[in-house]
Amino acid sequence: MTQILSVVSECAPLIKTGGLADVAGALPGALAAHGDHMRVLLPGYRAIMGKLGKTTVVDTYRDLFGGRATLRAATAHGLDLLIVDAPHLYDRDGGIYCDAGGQDWPDNPERFAALCYVAALIAKDGAGGWTPDVVHGHDWQAGLTPEYLHGQDVQTPFVFTIHNIAFHGNTGADRLNALRLDPDRFTTDHFEFWGHISALKAAIAAADRITTVSQTYARELLTPEFGIGMDGILRARSSDLTGIVNGIDTGVWDPETDPNIAPYKAPAGKAANKRALQKTFGLVKSDGPLCVLVSRLTEQKGIDLLLHALPTLLDNGGQLALLGSGDPALEVALLEAADHHPNLAVKIGYDEPLSHQMIAGGDAILVPSRFEPCGLTQLYGLRYGTLPLVALTGGLADTIINASPAALSAGVATGIQFHPINAQALSDAFATLCTLYADQPTWKKMQRNAMKQAVGWDTSAAAYHAIYADLTA
Ligand code: ADP
Ligand code: GLC
Repeated sequence: MTQILSVVSECAPLIKTGGLADVAGALPGALAAHGDHMRVLLPGYRAIMGKLGKTTVVDTYRDLFGGRATLRAATAHGLDLLIVDAPHLYDRDGGIYCDAGGQDWPDNPERFAALCYVAALIAKDGAGGWTPDVVHGHDWQAGLTPEYLHGQDVQTPFVFTIHNIAFHGNTGADRLNALRLDPDRFTTDHFEFWGHISALKAAIAAADRITTVSQTYARELLTPEFGIGMDGILRARSSDLTGIVNGIDTGVWDPETDPNIAPYKAPAGKAANKRALQKTFGLVKSDGPLCVLVSRLTEQKGIDLLLHALPTLLDNGGQLALLGSGDPALEVALLEAADHHPNLAVKIGYDEPLSHQMIAGGDAILVPSRFEPCGLTQLYGLRYGTLPLVALTGGLADTIINASPAALSAGVATGIQFHPINAQALSDAFATLCTLYADQPTWKKMQRNAMKQAVGWDTSAAAYHAIYADLTA
């Protein structure tokens, strides 16, 4: 049994801004099936501390980046947690990365350095008698961990997973001391990146193994277009880089038992959910394809492309119900478009139960991302017979079988992919979607294919298990 310390900035269902939380929350359970024990080290955000119930103090630190801190053990939602309770860093209103106005917290470098620092102390001294065999960090927030492991002279292997390379966690070199980093390692082969300290680069440079969340993204990361400045160092480390596609929690996302919807076993059961969803969004009862989209609203997610291509869907009798929040300009543009199109309805916000109702009630789910390391909503779509219409990139390329003439005649298609990733190709994909939807026998066959796809964690948890086993052999 390998003991693993997962170092991560969010974890569902406790605290979530995106798919990273889902992965962090699902991995421990999935690994337990392979005999591994994973504990999750999280910052003690205000939003978490109230939800923990009884905690046990396992360590105290007199000065953790500017204040007293306590390491607490707790269990919640079946997760075995270690919480860095450091009020000066985490006990505040607003978001976990940004203040209420959407600005990054100015002390984010220290806030997440503290998480990494505690991870290294746990690797060295243990936590209440428990010592990890492997430390597994996620994204830049966990990126400085190997620097602190090195600083503490600890040899515990470090696995690093890249969920999104767009966030580098860079900060000025003037913070070297404040972040307790070794100035001798402020070089291009460690954590120096164009004159800055880069937490992401620190991890890529020093990790024993690097993983990312799909095989296609693992290849894309080696190119300048997708590597966003890290492609060079990733190419140098490519023999240690693996793509392991995310799974979804098939207990939470199960159309037969989902408490948020009218449960169903077969595609026909979606009809009641579709009517309910049209009502919820104030859309008229229509028999055209009802598309749904649930997403952060950012440049990555291709929402601007969607706005350009949308007329093709709406003019062909389709509808779109969209739920999301993010970039204020995109929110305004979507709301304005909805004012002009009776068949477009937009809700700005974050709403977990509604997201389930949308995946159940939609005919198709849209993911028109410019890049997508894995993506989870297309996997929910497969499981609920809600056919994904996705950009051909990253995990969207790996998890969907495009309705090409060959795939249709072989009877294996599960969705629609478009390429190149621009508004014209998306518009063409909408035309394809409407044609396919009009051919109900073909559509139903695709739905049945989709619902049969394996989208759980089994295979991918086995792949992580194999990496840990390899590193500790
Ligand atoms: P990313 O992590 O890049 O945001 P993913 O597809 O991996 O993209 O994961 C996004 C997760 O967040 C999914 O579980 C999705 O359902 C959820 N989500 C995103 N926006 C919302 C929202 N507005 N309301 C409810 N859930 C949302
Ligand atoms: C990131 C990616 C997304 C992925 C998620 C979980 O947020 O944008 O594609 O599914 O991490 O790995």
